[in-house]
Amino acid sequence: MDNKNLIKLALEAKEFSYAPYSSFNVGAALLCRDGKVFTGCNVESASYGATNCAERTALFKAVSEGERDFASIAVVGSKAGEICKGVTAPCGICRQALYEFCGDDLKVILVSESEAVIEITLGELFPYGFGPKNLS
Ligand code: THU
Repeated sequence: MDNKNLIKLALEAKEFSYAPYSSFNVGAALLCRDGKVFTGCNVESASYGATNCAERTALFKAVSEGERDFASIAVVGSKAGEICKGVTAPCGICRQALYEFCGDDLKVILVSESEAVIEITLGELFPYGFGPKNLS
C-alpha cells in the first residue's frame, strides 16, 4: 500500500474519533509488513487520563490480532470541523508504545492539508528509546 492510500485510511479513521473534551480528532493507519492495515482513532474519557490516542488504538488492535511486524503509520489530526492545519506527531506515550514493536525503522507519515506530508522514522522521533533489548 502506498502512502496516499494509507493517509486516506487515516483520514477515514479520524471520522470515528470520540473527542468530546478536547475537540481534537485524530486518525491513524498502521501498515503491517504482510500488507494488512489496522486503523484507529482517539477515544477520550470523562476521566481524562483514560484517553487512548489514535496511534495506540491502531497498534493495540493489530497486536491483539497477532500482528507484530510493522512498516509504517500515517497520522492525521485536526480540531473538530477544521482542516488539518499542521501535522500531528505521535505523543510521547505513543512513541514508547510503538517502539516496543517497531524499533527505529518504522516510517511515520505525518499529514497536514496545508503543508507537505512529512515522512520521518520512529528512531528520529524517539532517539535512544528504551525497548525490549534493554531488558534482554
Ligand atoms: N491525540 C492522539 O490521538 N494522538 C496524538 O498523536 C496526539 C494526541 C489525542 C489525545 C486526545 O484525545 C486529543 O488528541 C488531544 O490531546
